[in-house]
Amino acid sequence: MKKLKITLLTILCSCFVMNAQAQTLYDNLGGKDTIHQIMVRTLELSLKDKRIAHTLERSDMNRLARLLTDQTCELTGGPCKYDGLDMKKAHVGLGLTTAHFNALVEHLQQAMSEANISNRTQNKLLSLLAPMHRDVVEK
Ligand code: HEM
Repeated sequence: MKKLKITLLTILCSCFVMNAQAQTLYDNLGGKDTIHQIMVRTLELSLKDKRIAHTLERSDMNRLARLLTDQTCELTGGPCKYDGLDMKKAHVGLGLTTAHFNALVEHLQQAMSEANISNRTQNKLLSLLAPMHRDVVEK
């Protein structure tokens, strides 16, 4: 009986460990297709927002969605390689403010909610993006 209990406990523990190893933030975001869908929607909402639309009007939205997807995929433990500019070079001269930054984050949150991403997962991604504020915002 004791041996059976120990065996069951061992199986339970190893399942728990395997599960903890397998579930990355990338997985919790639904993988690359869902991340791409979230980025396309974030840009769509941003282009409708008078506070930030002007900053994006001259950019290629397909390219930007692809780069945002690769960057998020890599950052969250997915199998992608981001090949775009670093965040300082990408945003230099755009004159972005904290208000612009917060507006984009608002749209990202809405896009994630529409894709049924849990609040816990949303917050984990936002906390990875938060340190980029210092390279994105100029004033
Ligand atoms: C954590 C926040 C942000 C992240 C992770 C991010 C990420 C990126 C990435 C990956 C690129 C592409 C770099 C390349 O061209 O190689 C980019 C470019 C750009 N981002 Fe951001 N960004 C952020 C905040 C913002 C904000 C707040 C705005 C404006 C409201 C903005 C507007 C732009 C624009 C206009 C470009 C240039 C696109 C082009 O070259 O045509 N970004 N960003």
